[in-house]
Amino acid sequence: MAKMKLLAIETSCDDTCAAVLENDRILSNVVSSQTDLHAQWGGVVPDIAKRAHQVRIMPVVEIALKRAHVKIEEIGVIAVTLGPGLAIALGVGVNTAKELAIKYHKKLVAVNHVEGHILANLAKNKSGKPTRKIIFPALALTVSGGHTKIVLVKKIGDYEVVGETLDDAAGEALDKAAKLLGLGYPGGPVIERLAQNRKNKILDLPRPLLDKKILDYSFSGLKTSFYYQIKDWPKEKVSKNLANLAADYQDAVFEHLIRKFKLAVEKYQPKTLMAAGGVLANLELRKRLRKMAKKINLPILMPVKKILDTDNAAMIGVAGYYKAMRGEFVKDIEKLDRDPRLSL
Ligand code: KG4
Ligand code: ZN
Repeated sequence: MAKMKLLAIETSCDDTCAAVLENDRILSNVVSSQTDLHAQWGGVVPDIAKRAHQVRIMPVVEIALKRAHVKIEEIGVIAVTLGPGLAIALGVGVNTAKELAIKYHKKLVAVNHVEGHILANLAKNKSGKPTRKIIFPALALTVSGGHTKIVLVKKIGDYEVVGETLDDAAGEALDKAAKLLGLGYPGGPVIERLAQNRKNKILDLPRPLLDKKILDYSFSGLKTSFYYQIKDWPKEKVSKNLANLAADYQDAVFEHLIRKFKLAVEKYQPKTLMAAGGVLANLELRKRLRKMAKKINLPILMPVKKILDTDNAAMIGVAGYYKAMRGEFVKDIEKLDRDPRLSL
């Protein structure tokens, strides 16, 4: 079968991303991060994100094509993130993809961002590596700044969300704690770095939703308890204990993540485990997930590169490739609209 070249576009949050793929092989993967624009506000400001996406998206697309040595005329399929995400940010990517598809007469596939994260595990580099086989059913944990879900993957394209957060996402919980500590945005990487230097455990944080029948997550109680336990501390005590505080909080978040994932594994008996999303950039979380998988003798797939953990367009390209293989193209391109609440 002829190889398919895809141009993928992702603008669901604060990264302007474009990638070029040949089937599931990544030829280029360009991310223009807006972290510097949002950091001073302690989180993503939708309007700033939208304007930055508008300015950056075409240059990012052009760089992705150039790095891949592919001309837009050679592209067969355009893949774009339809949702979930920030509405006005998603809109920029969706409109760009529509314009390009109409102008150059390309087929278009609309991709779910969470499916993109999960299938980042199947992305191959230019030389076609790694080749990973999933034995189904698989169970995937997706953890990022916007979502935290346990997903039963019956096969590629057939998903059932079996657990999800009832309030904040895990990454959001890390970001909020970092903000409380005055550590800037995004908080996950700073917390990870600080936590490596922990000396003592100093906080007693709650273990949320201990009922074993519940496979959902809740992080807001953790954040509140963290806040109340340190709110009256003098500044010097906080700054002297930053590493301990970061480690205690990170521990509580990861313990909760893994406890529910384990319960879901017991209930659904998957043959393969997968994990994905921005928080997977955290080496401690990766270590704990690997340990858990080893204990129960199951293979676990995690993205092979940091760029594939956090938001990027290559993962949208991989999901787009599988959708295109199933013939799931957008029928009426003009009418396609972003879907900020798109479910799996
Ligand atoms: O997947 P992602 O790039 O965007 C969303 O779809 O939300 O995830 C971003 C989240 C942020 O909350 C960020 O703090 C977290 O991923 N993150 C990390 C690390 N790097 C990024 N969390 C923990 N440790 C990290 N090293
Ligand atoms: Zn994401």
